[in-house]
Amino acid sequence: MSNRKILVTSALPYANGPIHLGHLVEYIQTDIWVRFQKQRGHQCHFVCADDTHGTPIMLKADSLGISPEDLIAQVGKEHLADFTAFDVAFDNYHSTHSPENKDFSALIYQRLRDAGHISSRTITQAYDPVKNMFLSDRFIKGECPKCGALDQYGDGCEVCGATYSPTELKNAVSAISGAKPVEKDSVHYFFNLADFTEMLRDWTTATGHLQPEVRNKMGEWLDGGLQQWDISRDAPYFGFEIPDAPGKYFYVWLDAPIGYMASFKNLCDRQGLDFDSFWAKDSTAELYHFIGKDIIYFHALFWPAMLQGADFRTPSAVFAHGFLTVNGEKMSKSRGTFIKARTYLDHLNPEYLRYYFAAKLSAGVDDIDLNFDDFSQRVNSDLVGKVVNIASRCSGFIAKRFANQLSATCSEPTLFQDFVNANVQIAELYETREFGKAMREIMALADKANQYIDEKKPWLIAKEQGRDAELQDVCTMGINLFRLLAVYLKPVTPRLAAGAELFLNAEITGWVAELQPLLNHTLNDFTPLMIRVEADKIAAIIEDSKESLEKTVDKHAAVEKRFEPIAPTIEFNDFAKLDLRLAKIVKASYVEGSDKLLQLTVDIGDETRNILSGIRSAYEPADLEGKLTLVVANLAPRKMRFGLSEGMVLAAGPGEKDIWLLSPDAGAVAGLRVN
Ligand code: MSP
Ligand code: ZN
Repeated sequence: MSNRKILVTSALPYANGPIHLGHLVEYIQTDIWVRFQKQRGHQCHFVCADDTHGTPIMLKADSLGISPEDLIAQVGKEHLADFTAFDVAFDNYHSTHSPENKDFSALIYQRLRDAGHISSRTITQAYDPVKNMFLSDRFIKGECPKCGALDQYGDGCEVCGATYSPTELKNAVSAISGAKPVEKDSVHYFFNLADFTEMLRDWTTATGHLQPEVRNKMGEWLDGGLQQWDISRDAPYFGFEIPDAPGKYFYVWLDAPIGYMASFKNLCDRQGLDFDSFWAKDSTAELYHFIGKDIIYFHALFWPAMLQGADFRTPSAVFAHGFLTVNGEKMSKSRGTFIKARTYLDHLNPEYLRYYFAAKLSAGVDDIDLNFDDFSQRVNSDLVGKVVNIASRCSGFIAKRFANQLSATCSEPTLFQDFVNANVQIAELYETREFGKAMREIMALADKANQYIDEKKPWLIAKEQGRDAELQDVCTMGINLFRLLAVYLKPVTPRLAAGAELFLNAEITGWVAELQPLLNHTLNDFTPLMIRVEADKIAAIIEDSKESLEKTVDKHAAVEKRFEPIAPTIEFNDFAKLDLRLAKIVKASYVEGSDKLLQLTVDIGDETRNILSGIRSAYEPADLEGKLTLVVANLAPRKMRFGLSEGMVLAAGPGEKDIWLLSPDAGAVAGLRVN
């Protein structure tokens, strides 16, 4: 086995949200592959970073009232903590907002420009005259030109599925300020992707660079002709200013993949590695990018072209995976299946998920489904029921009868050798990212080991006189087979493997080929290496995920509502239909079972009304009693889950703490009609 030099990356997660189980498909997949390569003795480096630039991150920081630098520092820490907890062992986790990335972005841009691959021209774009910024399609909202649905984004209608350009939206407004966008000209910089058409045709079709299904897709894109790629954005933008174009910034997707180099450079500087031997044009090192199928275009077209044009080596391969669904459906906040890494960690062992994903992953781009029944069943039956069970079945006898001492001889050398020989096939499956098949091979071996124990029946041998040696041999055999399974599973379940090493009192270093059985060897006491998945923990994860959703939706709704477009005009006659009365709140109380509503008893002059009002987030009942407010007195009574509501209290505000009940002067008289 010759020693390979390998650099591996996972896609850089955006610094504007938490890591969720969908992300983890990728980071766990990559980590397993990297751990496998390292266990095989190869020089393998695994780098990643937070993807920190762009408008959404700038706006998010804005809405939180902090600087983007503070936001990305905070999120970066949380991301790394989540990854670490899932045993995703990056050799370096960096940031695209780093000096290294700034330098490489400038360098690559300059080289592309000097080679004639950058052009500039003026384009006309929607502009928010209040926020003083250009608006990309996703920041423009209005009515769908096809079906008239309200509140649709500039790139397409979620109601009827129509796609259109934002200029076609009716009553378009900026989703940021609510202002009506104007059109404005600006110079943009473009990367001439078409210069690389031939190069990309070769690169994408050469064997090994792309998965077959991805290669076909690229062929279609290449046949369709490559467009210029707009790589600049105008200020205000959180990113790197373009060196020779003040006020213009690199579009986030330009510097994001360069972040792979930057993170590796940072590692090289700390560990004295030779950067150029990995990235220079003549590098013989291997370079692999693991990504999701949604970002193939960037990694299989733009990125190789940028590298080629800037005189760097191109990737050895780009490995795309599919998307995670939960219980057969897209992750959904309302179903509680949009699960954050942290929420999972609050309840379950991360190794369960690592094993489950491994069992489901293949080398293809098919989506993978996390089905919680299947999840429990697989983890319980495979890891706990098959693998750990072997050790627990044998360790008791070895401990009690032989003072933890294994036999001096291997009683079934052929069986042991069968287990060793399987390493070739298992390694091949790991290497080709056929993790699901690898897990099936390993579990077939676990079945075999259990069968061996079932046949030998050590629990019967133990009861008979004079068969001690046999008992020790059988259990020694079982434990040695267990050890091989731990070696094979180590890339997937490093903690289980570490527990096994401790119990076996023998480290697992490297792969299997030369492994000899542990004989004449003293074990440590066995402690349960893994417990079964508990159903109530899964229920708790789903419950917690629902909760966190309500909060996000509320927050989101609050921000969105702040700038809701004005509803269609009504005539004066419509308005006059409202009977608005001054009302005195005589009693206010909480509504049992509802965290949104308050129950108000209001005196509207000649009668009292019971009104349920969604203002609990902003008011304490005690603060309301005795106050005056405005009530729509002629609204038809509405039966709600918590009772009948006979009218409506008028309040304004974006939501949460910011809801202002319209409460006129205390001197006014209840019952007065005000419109
Ligand atoms: N910032 C970009 C990547 C830049 S790489 C130079 C990005 N970030 S992301 O946070 O949206 O996604 C990070 C990775 O996680 C991507 O490869 C993406 O495909 C993957 N996944 C995000 N959601 C996923 C699922 N639901 N399922 C599987 N993978 C998912 O894209
Ligand atoms: Zn529509």
